[in-house]
Parts: sequence; structure tokens; C-alpha cells
Amino acid sequence: MYSSKPQKKYLFPLRRQLILCITLLIFSVLIIVYINVQSLSTLRPPVMHFDTVGNNISCHYVDENDALPSAEDKNFIPRPNSIFFHETSCRGGLNSRQVCAIESASRAHPRRQVFVMFSAPVSEAVYQRSPIAKLRRFANIKMARVHISDYARNTPLEALVASAPFNRSKWQVEHTSDILRYLTLYKWGGVYLDTDMLVVKSLTPLGHNWVAKESNDLVNAAVIAISMDHLGRKLAEALINEVGTTYRPDIWIHNGPGAITRVLHKMCETPHPSEWSSNTCQGLEVYSPEYFYPIHYEQNDDYFKAGDLKNVENAYTHHLWNKLTYDKKIEKDSPYAKMAQKYCPTIYEMYGAHFGS
Ligand SMILES: *[C@@H]1O[C@H](CO)[C@@H](O)[C@H](O)[C@H]1NC(C)=O
Ligand SMILES: *[C@@H]1O[C@H](CO)[C@@H](O)[C@H](O)[C@H]1NC(C)=O
Repeated sequence: MYSSKPQKKYLFPLRRQLILCITLLIFSVLIIVYINVQSLSTLRPPVMHFDTVGNNISCHYVDENDALPSAEDKNFIPRPNSIFFHETSCRGGLNSRQVCAIESASRAHPRRQVFVMFSAPVSEAVYQRSPIAKLRRFANIKMARVHISDYARNTPLEALVASAPFNRSKWQVEHTSDILRYLTLYKWGGVYLDTDMLVVKSLTPLGHNWVAKESNDLVNAAVIAISMDHLGRKLAEALINEVGTTYRPDIWIHNGPGAITRVLHKMCETPHPSEWSSNTCQGLEVYSPEYFYPIHYEQNDDYFKAGDLKNVENAYTHHLWNKLTYDKKIEKDSPYAKMAQKYCPTIYEMYGAHFGS
């Protein structure tokens, strides 16, 4: 009598506790499975390699199998001071070094939009499952597809692009990229960056109209800032006109660094590039190599071999000279590996020992 009553009372909650436990267990298992499936598909996309570039841009004229929104759509309106990258190869995606550059720009400028403009289709599978999917998780990174002929429509380069002189170039991929960077800055203003630029600090304090020298007498085109103000428009129009009238498919630097250096020779009041500055170039700032090209291309090994860089405190970006270095091994304690870990931690972690290979 005495013992049966409380025992009965006790049994019931025990069964309820059991049911509760089992329910919780099932629920937790479901959550764990869900997270794993999620991470398989997006958090940890398979490491995809997009390496071969070649000299064939036929993909620029392909429309099928493209998951990207179009850059010629009337709803495509980048905000002022956006940052732009152009990918003009036919690799169909981005390699880890490029993704790192984009992540570094995004992290240094959380309040600016960062656009990755593709000249070729990106398939739904790559869009959803490659490092590109990882980039899309950054709130300020946007992607778009450029159809070069439509993109140039109603600009001073419409006729040039329609005649496709880059089809005859030895460097079709790069020479198309030269044209597109000037077109983009003409259309939207903002900052253009090459996909082999690692951004280590915000470019915002530098103002809105500037170019940078890679050596004492050559302005490089791997980073350019042009705004929509009077000076910016003047520079953008001068660049477009220069490329439109002097395009050469047979000289490597003619349409990129060459075009901008020739424009400065006209804009600045002194013929000596070492004297170019906002004082002598109508207000256009001309930064010295230490800001964006702190390591000269002849010393590009310094980025890849174990060790530390010297005299780079003033650098805003590092140019990794992809054309010369794309197949170089990134040693574990090299400056590039260390900087990637710091400035593109998401991608660096995703690739691990395969970063850059
Ligand atoms: C370029 O690539 C396309 C597609 O892969 C191919 O059909 C075409 O023949 C190639 N053109 C040249 C000049 O190699
Ligand atoms: C340029 O080459 C592409 C194929 O790579 C072709 O579709 C296009 O029509 C060519 N344009 C001109 C003007 O020859």
C-alpha cells in the first residue's frame, strides 16, 4: 500500500522522460545530419581546380548553361565606388588565387560592393558548389556575366569591340580584360582590380581618382580608381578614347599599362613620370610603386619562397604577377602563404595545403 502509490506516480514521469529523451535524440541526429549535408554542399565545397587559360576566348560568345545574372540587364546598377574584378579566361570558374584576391578586397571594404564580372558562362554546378559559392556568402560580393558586344553598346568602344581586334591577339584573354576594365570604369566608375592583387588594407583613404606606377616610368593598370566627378570623367573618357584609337593586338602592354601611361603623358604637365602627382596631373593622384606594386616583378620569387618581405609597410595591395608566377609553388612559410592566411582566411582554410596549386 505504502510503496505502490508513489511508485506508480514515479513510473509515469519516467516514461515521459524517456520519450522526451528519445525525441531530443532524434531531433539532434536530424540537426547533425542536416548540418553535414549543408556543409557538404556549401560550407565545404569540393576543391575544384580551374587552371588552364590558353589563348581562346570563344566562350565569350557562348550563352548556354549560364547561372549568372547579366551585367547588361537594366537592373544591374552597381553602387558608386564599387570594386570590380574581370575574369576573362574560359576556365569557367575561379582558381584559389583569384578567389583569395576577391575575398581580400571584400574583407578590406565591407561597406563597398565587390563585383566579379565574368566574360564566360558559369554553370549552375560551379555557381552552387565551387569556391564561387563560398564567395557568394560574403554579403558585399556580387557576380555578373558580361556579354562583351552588348556591354560596349552605346559607348565609344562599340565599334572597336564589334570588330573584335582581340581575336587577333596573342594574348586574347588579357587584351580583352584591358578593354573591359576601361569600359567598366567608364560605365560605372569605382575601383578596378586585377585578380592577382591581394588587398591588405582599405583603399578608401586614398580618394576616388588615382592610378599607380609599377616602376619609375610605367603606370600599371592592375589597379585604377576613377570616380564619376569631373576629373574622373575626364580620365575615363581619355582612356576609352586612347584604347579605341590606338589598340594593338600585337604588343603585350600596349592596351593596359601602355594606354594609361600614354594618357598621363597627355594629362600631366611634365613628361617625366617621376614628377607625376596630383600637382602636375590636374588633380589626379599618381601613387608610387610602394603602394600597390611593392615587389617588382623581377623579384616575384620573394612572394613564393619561405621568408619575410622587407619595406612593404606602405603597401595597400600586393601584385602577384600571375602571368609570371601562376605555376610557382607557394612555400609553406612564404609571404604569399602567410598573407593569404591573414587576408583571405576563408579560402585559405578551404584549400589548406592545396592553396594556389
Ligand atoms: C577555341 O575553343 C573552342 C571550344 O573549345 C573550339 O571549338 C575552337 O576550335 C577553338 N579555337 C581555336 C582557334 O583553337
Ligand atoms: C571573334 O571570335 C569569336 C570566336 O572566338 C567569334 O565568335 C566572333 O564572331 C569573332 N568576331 C569577329 C568580329 O571576328
